[in-house]
Amino acid sequence: MGSRPRTPAKIDRLDRDDPLAALRDAFNLDPHVIYLDGNSLGALPKATAGRLAQAVSREWGEGLIKSWNTHDWIGAPQRVGGKIARLIGAQSDEVLATDSTSVNLFKLVGAATMLAPARRTILSEAGNFPTDLYVMGGLEALLGRKVKLRVAPAESLLSEIDQDTAAVVLTHVHYAAGRRWPMAEITARAHAKGAMMIWDLSHSAGALAVDLNGAAADLAVGCGYKYLNGGPGAPAFLFVARRHQAMIRSPLSGWMGHEAPFAFADDYQPAAGVDRFLCGTPPILGLAALEASLDMLGEVDMAAVEAKGAALTELFIALAASRCPGLPLASPRAAKDRGLHLCFRHVDAYAVMQALIERGVIGDFRAPDLLRFGFSPLYVSYRDVWNAVEILADVLESRAFDDPRHHRRSAVT
Ligand SMILES: Cc1ncc(COP(=O)(O)O)c(C=O)c1O
Repeated sequence: MGSRPRTPAKIDRLDRDDPLAALRDAFNLDPHVIYLDGNSLGALPKATAGRLAQAVSREWGEGLIKSWNTHDWIGAPQRVGGKIARLIGAQSDEVLATDSTSVNLFKLVGAATMLAPARRTILSEAGNFPTDLYVMGGLEALLGRKVKLRVAPAESLLSEIDQDTAAVVLTHVHYAAGRRWPMAEITARAHAKGAMMIWDLSHSAGALAVDLNGAAADLAVGCGYKYLNGGPGAPAFLFVARRHQAMIRSPLSGWMGHEAPFAFADDYQPAAGVDRFLCGTPPILGLAALEASLDMLGEVDMAAVEAKGAALTELFIALAASRCPGLPLASPRAAKDRGLHLCFRHVDAYAVMQALIERGVIGDFRAPDLLRFGFSPLYVSYRDVWNAVEILADVLESRAFDDPRHHRRSAVT
């Protein structure tokens, strides 16, 4: 990417006045890259490499199997989960860092159906993130269709909740449109019919000031590799509200969720509290990377993170409207109704994104025609937003995306 034009003074002022600006230095980011994909894979915190090197060389290499005790590897899912709890409005004994989001969703939706055997429906949104629908479809097949997955459009979803609904399963911030459900209101609507509310926080945790307990949520899952910057394939998390912990059972009753894993008993006795949702051996290296990122987040105020995210997305929308006419916004216009990523429609969205990436602006493409840009407030600056829109305007005006190279699809988009 060549040298960039000077940013207007008012943009520089926004960066100067940004209370979170210093956090960018905690990340290893190429200064020539504008990274607008932290909603898909968070950037690398500077602390992570050292923490991983220590976990590999000292804890594993020297400590060997002793490190399960001496470095408290065995307590890592609870310890790391406790650090996520603060970011999502939960108590530290309500969250575990474990497994993938998909697997955690299986455990929690399965558990919700076991808690309400007389109810036969799981309700979700048409167009929800595919893994959520696939996992629930798999559960339906496993249960011999005694429990049915009902998928309704967002507009009519609330009227579909009834006395037969065991659980309502929604993604708080939609992975494509970026639309945000009002968490407390929807949870109350589910509870009014006696249904459990399960939230997928993959596009919210680390981005928004989520308040699970304030909303009286029952269960939740979310990704560790997006706004939590845990690294590719980082462990995900799950939340079980305290009031459910004594009764609820995980359908994946692995040995790590047993009350005494090292008693090696034949009979399964679930551990107390949220620990019963552990399944197999925790991925210690992945947890070490995720913990390094969470420690870097320290006491960062999530309300300030959300406020900056709203300002970054507002700025992008306003600049794109003036510099890129004819590029429709496919996300809600009001900041309170969306998360921290934006989608725009373009018939050649895939090729436009490849041309942007070649020019150092990294976002992603979502089928069939969406350009998606994520704005992690921890490391995206107002100057990044201004430069990204200038480059986007140039790609669109020059039709740089017509180059056949930009139309060749890679396996991961
Ligand atoms: C809303 C949502 N849920 C779940 C997932 C997948 O999570 P995992 O890969 O941890 O199973 C994603 C991935 O992008 C997502 O956007």
